[in-house]
Amino acid sequence: MKTPIVDFVQQYAEKNMTRLHMPGHKGMPFLGFENLDITEVKGADALYEADGIIAQSEANASAFFGTAKTLFSTEGSSQCIRAMLALAKTAGNSDWILAARNCHKSFITGCALLGLDIRWLFGEDEQYSLCRCHVTAQTVRETLKKCETKPVAVYLTSPDYLGGEADIASIAEIAHAFGVPLLVDNAHGAYLHFLKTSRHPMDLGADCCCDSAHKTLPVLTGGAYLHIHRNAPQEFVQNAKRALSLFGSTSPSYLILQSLDLCNRYLDEDYPTKLNDCIERLETVKNALRKNGWQIEKSDPLKLTVRSSGLDLSQCLRENGIECEYEDPDFTVMMLTPENPSADFDRLLTALGQNNAPCSPPHLRFALPEKVLTVRDAMLRQGEWVKTEDAVGRIAASPTVGCPPAVPVVISGERIGEQVIPVFQYYGIDRVFVLNE
Ligand SMILES: Cc1ncc(COP(=O)(O)O)c(C=O)c1O
Repeated sequence: MKTPIVDFVQQYAEKNMTRLHMPGHKGMPFLGFENLDITEVKGADALYEADGIIAQSEANASAFFGTAKTLFSTEGSSQCIRAMLALAKTAGNSDWILAARNCHKSFITGCALLGLDIRWLFGEDEQYSLCRCHVTAQTVRETLKKCETKPVAVYLTSPDYLGGEADIASIAEIAHAFGVPLLVDNAHGAYLHFLKTSRHPMDLGADCCCDSAHKTLPVLTGGAYLHIHRNAPQEFVQNAKRALSLFGSTSPSYLILQSLDLCNRYLDEDYPTKLNDCIERLETVKNALRKNGWQIEKSDPLKLTVRSSGLDLSQCLRENGIECEYEDPDFTVMMLTPENPSADFDRLLTALGQNNAPCSPPHLRFALPEKVLTVRDAMLRQGEWVKTEDAVGRIAASPTVGCPPAVPVVISGERIGEQVIPVFQYYGIDRVFVLNE
């Protein structure tokens, strides 16, 4: 597999040119890799007008994923999510979107910027978690049936932060039957295409999805893909670069572009074998943990989500030299990839040991708050920070959110009711940004 971006930058660095161009470090070593951090010099192509080495590398990635188009983002899935929304809005005939509630905050800010109103799909999960939203194809069908106008898209987040996966294939079928495209935030699932049987949204019928390559593949933070399906509306393919450029810096990082380019070679070598070995090893760990008394949640294959109610599991693991991805009062989430040496799996098993503490089921309750304003109207008004307990009755100005998981509890324009306060407290949110009275 060719790596045109990596090769170009390497050759440029070897030429030892006098750099009378940006960046200001001039290739001198401060962190150590500055000689590889270039800008759009001759031959380096340009991300948003790509027709050279970047276009070649994107075409290589597209061939792996079997898409009509795969484009690089150096600003994460956050940029791709906003671009997907711009594509749907440009191609659609209305100003609203139907979305599962467990969305990342970039979805909310994207809707605000684009003037898209949101109607929520709200899961009827027995055990509520901010990260989850179990939406069935049946719910999507019933909701679309009742709509007077078609939404610009149906929007799902899958896998979610706890590793839950939506029934993308069935929901895609329903959305398409109503003539509505399906967009998927697949930030956590770039690797799903390389399973023995793919579970990637592009293989399950989504029109468009984003993958944070940096979350599950060996790519520098910020590296992501925007994928467009072969059967997606033609305008999606035509407008994809333009949509990304609406939300991107004019100085995209060539370090991240090289990393995405190199990842093409990584995927082309023996990645599926490595991935399956890693999943098998993790399955063995999960089974051993179950025998040791731990409750392991169903999740996408590279996540380990442990029920940890009442335990300070992440601190205990930290003391054993292990740092986790995410923890709330009920769940501890760990993310592994083939790049974790086998010693990491042993260390994890030893550190977790035996669990004798009974886990009480999560008790959180949540009902959709009253919507007073659109997200755009609320987000572009003056507001103030108040303590959570003083926020009852006020209207949220910014999505109230902790990161991770960066999934908002209350969305801009919603009234904060009494019942939301325990949810804020549960997620450690002690102040919220509300509209001025
Ligand atoms: C579900 C989900 N979507 C989108 C994002 C944003 O991804 P990125 O950090 O690549 O911008 C995140 C980040 O954690 C996420 O968890």
